[in-house]
Amino acid sequence: MNNPSYQNNVIGFLDDATDKVSKRIGGFPILGTISQMKHYIEYYRIESLFIAMPSATSERVSQIIKDSHEYNIEVKILNQSEDLLSEYDVKKNIRPITIADILGRTEIHLDNDEIKRLVQGESVLVTGAAGSIGSELCRQILKYNPKRLVMIDINENGLYQLQNELGFDQKSGKIDSSIELVCLILSICDKHEINKAFREFKPVIIFHAAAHKHVPFMEDTPAEAIKNNIFGTNNLIKSAKEFKVKTFVSISTDKAVNPTNVMGATKRFIEKMIQSMTGHSETKFVAVRFGNVLGSNGSVVPLFTRQIENGGPVTVTHRDMVRYFMTIPEAVSLVLQAATFGHGGELFVLDMGEPVKIYDLATKMIRLAGFEPQRDIKIEITGLRPGEKLFEELLMSEEGLRPTDNELIFVAKPLDVDEAEVQSDLELLKKSLDKETTRSEVIELLKQVVDTYQPEE
Ligand SMILES: NC(=O)c1ccc[n+]([C@@H]2O[C@H](COP(=O)([O-])OP(=O)(O)OC[C@H]3O[C@@H](n4cnc5c(N)ncnc54)[C@H](O)[C@@H]3O)[C@@H](O)[C@H]2O)c1
Repeated sequence: MNNPSYQNNVIGFLDDATDKVSKRIGGFPILGTISQMKHYIEYYRIESLFIAMPSATSERVSQIIKDSHEYNIEVKILNQSEDLLSEYDVKKNIRPITIADILGRTEIHLDNDEIKRLVQGESVLVTGAAGSIGSELCRQILKYNPKRLVMIDINENGLYQLQNELGFDQKSGKIDSSIELVCLILSICDKHEINKAFREFKPVIIFHAAAHKHVPFMEDTPAEAIKNNIFGTNNLIKSAKEFKVKTFVSISTDKAVNPTNVMGATKRFIEKMIQSMTGHSETKFVAVRFGNVLGSNGSVVPLFTRQIENGGPVTVTHRDMVRYFMTIPEAVSLVLQAATFGHGGELFVLDMGEPVKIYDLATKMIRLAGFEPQRDIKIEITGLRPGEKLFEELLMSEEGLRPTDNELIFVAKPLDVDEAEVQSDLELLKKSLDKETTRSEVIELLKQVVDTYQPEE
């Protein structure tokens, strides 16, 4: 409010504490309570609203945003952060509202000491480090002061950007400068190079987030999906065993549950590989499964943003399509927590909250950009794509969930997956890499090794 560009126009404050009403802050009155917001917006013809409630729950903030959306006003928000020490921090943390604010987030409680015990002073390796999940894993892991962070990806530009970002954070003191940051451009499919990296950098914990993940692409090239996702993971598992890695966390997806597409089927097979490790290895192998995260590479939020910027239409594949949504930082923080719970062979499943209708998401994003859906920007229904489901499930019926110490992390009932069977399935899948094998033969092979896989005809 001390910013000169706002000062002449400030009308006043709203506060939930009734005893503060009619007092003044910096010369401006506390007009009333937040429940009276609509009245004051109309009465004073308010043009801008600042939500400065860093300790309010996200549900509460989301409701205020929804109420303010009835009016054509600018809404900005003060980040919910514990680091607001100075006026500078406050100014830096004021930002436009995002779709995550509107959807409302569940609060996440972490046992940071446990994560610290896992990570501090250790050599940690992240695959797919340049990706949405991988890069956030790197950012969060660094807060727990590992000795070394090894970041592996085939995406050279993405890894370069991450290296710059983290290097800057080290220089500015946000990250401990003594942590060794190692960026390696290499493919998890290259067994030899992966082994070399393990030998040289001696990782103790692996977070495996490298994958081909685009459902329609993988429908067209199923052998590539098997090569990258399944055999790439197999290389990592073998190296982890050989070099006696302590903990191996594989990132999985709800698309692995009763998969209807190649990508999901490869991810289910990876879960089986992880589950087959129970009691067979010094390494604790665990998988963490969750649904869509908001704003990841190639996902619906960046797509809608681009479509809205281009004046529409916004394309939704089906009016009833729903998806679970978490933010990337939320999902990743729960992955770190789940890693501390693992004894080996577990499949952890994150509670994603209520599913969101994609059509509603499109509507909200159009309004957020200041337009009226259908009038200013059309929403077009384009029809389901091959392998796409209307609803994603997070669980197979036989899995049954048990709670853990974290209310948002569940552990699936261990399924008895035989290691020898997984190994013979891998032998079978090698046929898919043969140039002579046709697409439909590859699909048949996948069906043989993932009995829950039902490709759409
Ligand atoms: N994005 C989501 O909503 C979501 C939700 C649940 C689970 N997941 C899972 O998380 C994982 C990562 O997803 P993401 O959204 O971060 O995807 P992303 O595409 O942003 O990241 C994947 C990264 O892996 C890298 N990669 C691919 N093949 C590689 C290889 N052979 N060697 C080295 N690096 C390789 C890519 O270059 C990319 O940087 C996937 O397994 C995905 O199924 C994603």
